[in-house]
Amino acid sequence: MAGLLQDKAIIITGGSTGIGRATALRAAQEGARLTIADVNIKDGEAVVAEIKSKGGAAQFTKTDVTQSAEVKAMIAATVSAYGRLDGAFNNAGIEGHFTSITKMTEEEYDRTANVDMKGVWLCLKYQVEQFLKQGSAGSIVSTASVAGLIGTRGGSAYCAAKHGVVGMTKCVALEYARKNIRANAVCPGIIQTPMVDRMMAGTGIVPQHLIDQEPIGRLGQPGEIGEAVIWLLSDLSSFVTGIAMPVDGGYVAV
Ligand code: NAI
Repeated sequence: MAGLLQDKAIIITGGSTGIGRATALRAAQEGARLTIADVNIKDGEAVVAEIKSKGGAAQFTKTDVTQSAEVKAMIAATVSAYGRLDGAFNNAGIEGHFTSITKMTEEEYDRTANVDMKGVWLCLKYQVEQFLKQGSAGSIVSTASVAGLIGTRGGSAYCAAKHGVVGMTKCVALEYARKNIRANAVCPGIIQTPMVDRMMAGTGIVPQHLIDQEPIGRLGQPGEIGEAVIWLLSDLSSFVTGIAMPVDGGYVAV
């Protein structure tokens, strides 16, 4: 039986670990042909090897999403390998520095905004350009966060960047809806990934404190974001564009 993403050529940025990795493994199961793009070469190549060992199609491109030349090269590598681009999951991101605005440095703000907001903007720009060149439909999903929908104490840079991802997603959706190019965002709650492990190590917050923030009573697993992303990338969501979908255990329902 054909998978939900059968033969679709799809880029996953930040695909080396966490949410990106889990989504890559699921997308491969659904028949996608993948480009894993990340600055983390070792783990990215391991994801590719795992997909290939199960009979899937994947390649790795070392890509820093803040560099337009590298974003363009990532798209060119996908077209070169698979003949076209059908979709993308713009998921690369950093947690940045969580602290009150008076303590946050301009350098920290710039670093977070650069990766988490400009990085997604560059990907959207050149992916849409490729769809237009092909004259084809396309589906793009970008990772925002619950921090793209509500505020968090200490998150003035991260929340600004993630609200920015939601905003640019809506703009791209409106600009290209008539071309059948869809753009959506997912807004994960607190998901058990290396990012959250780092934040716990850095702040001393105990896991129970994080669990207590989740109405569902547990942290999310990376694959639970992957399921939503697969649906948004697939033709099953053909009438869905411009949304910022919480996948959050009820986090923003409070
Ligand atoms: P992660 O740290 O496991 O994954 C992030 C990936 O992005 C890593 O593989 C990293 O190497 C890559 N990356 C970082 N900077 C990059 C750059 N400049 N160019 C290319 N790749 C780069 O963390 P996780 O949790 O899987 O994060 C994925 C996305 O989910 C991020 O955008 C994050 O902000 C977002 N998110 C995560 C939540 C969580 O609770 N884990 C909650 C809400 C959003």
